[in-house]
Amino acid sequence: MKTYKIALLPGDGIGRDVTEAAWTVLEKTAGSSGLSLEATRLPWSCDYYLENGSMMPADGIETLRSFDAILLGAVGWPRKVPDSVSLHGLLLPIRKAFVQYANIRPHRLLPGVQGPLRSDGFDILCIRENTEGEYSGAGGRVHQGTDNEVAVETAIFTRTGVERILRFGFEQARRRRGKLASVTKSNAQKHSMVFWDEITHGLAAEYPDVEVTSYHIDAMAARMVMAPESLDVVVASNLFGDILTDLGAAIQGGLGFAASANINPDRSAPSMFEPVHGSAPDIAHLGIANPIAAIWSGAMMLEHLGETAAAEKVMAAIEATTVRGIGAIPGKDKTDAITASVLSELG
Ligand code: NAD
Ligand code: IPM
Ligand code: MN
Repeated sequence: MKTYKIALLPGDGIGRDVTEAAWTVLEKTAGSSGLSLEATRLPWSCDYYLENGSMMPADGIETLRSFDAILLGAVGWPRKVPDSVSLHGLLLPIRKAFVQYANIRPHRLLPGVQGPLRSDGFDILCIRENTEGEYSGAGGRVHQGTDNEVAVETAIFTRTGVERILRFGFEQARRRRGKLASVTKSNAQKHSMVFWDEITHGLAAEYPDVEVTSYHIDAMAARMVMAPESLDVVVASNLFGDILTDLGAAIQGGLGFAASANINPDRSAPSMFEPVHGSAPDIAHLGIANPIAAIWSGAMMLEHLGETAAAEKVMAAIEATTVRGIGAIPGKDKTDAITASVLSELG
């Protein structure tokens, strides 16, 4: 029997509820699919930080390296630990250290789910650059506390980084409906974004079967609301992709539906699977977080591990749940009720 070692990082707030929900679904799926999933729960979180002074142990990255995949809930509890500390102490270093440069975020309406827009029938795959750009962490502050204070946040775009994410996007477009939207702000940002556009157009020659269109981020935001059905694969930088994928979550009915995969395409290190949403402090401990995004992320993990049939079982169980209206309306059903329905649909 094939065995996979999975690191479970529930993190903070609703991350804990939705990760457990996803895990019960994955375990049951494994049981009926002839594979074995072994979980190691790692308590790294803001609570862990308050006890130990760091978000993970000094050898945390090395510990994670030995797993086949990582399933993460959410990180952040801003009332007690500044986000700049917690996210730069756990989530962002994992993405970077394991070169998970492709953050894949699918946006489509699940059956039975009513989005806030008229539009239906869209199926967008957002591919977000996940290791550099506006999240480089480079910069600083001078003359702190004075009228002359300056804060600089440097976005770093490398040819390697931009080329590999665009190439990843072209390959995905080729496997889907053959359309690639590249998102920049090259009318205002004249260095990095012009560089990005140049690389896009250079690669386009290698993919004559893919129809490429460049959009400015502001126009793309409007298009995702007004004409999401016109989009197939959307590739964007780290920050632009972050913002567009919360917008993508909104058009698919809410943050509780948006899944994501932080992929290391070379498989030189583990990939990480997590919902798009955060720890949702406003609803934490109420038992009402929608676990579908986390369960869907678990399906993406199975797919990445090569267990396509098992991944399809999970997606079918999610869809059989939402089509009956369970979990379809944000806030209506409890986390446990939605999870129980997905489990029972697994048969
Ligand atoms: P958030 O995604 O946690 O919440 C935004 C809104 O969406 C809230 O009203 C919340 O209740 C709702 N929501 C989110 N997930 C939901 C779900 N599964 N079911 C129902 N409603 C849901 O964003 P935020 O409030 O900006 O961030 C809270 C904390 O999480 C911060 O510390 C932030 O930095 C962190 N965060 C972490 C991640 C991550 O770990 N990947 C992602 C986003 C935000
Ligand atoms: C996400 C989150 C993170 C990001 C934050 C919490 C740093 O918003 O995964 O979308 O911006 O990458
Ligand atoms: Mn985000």
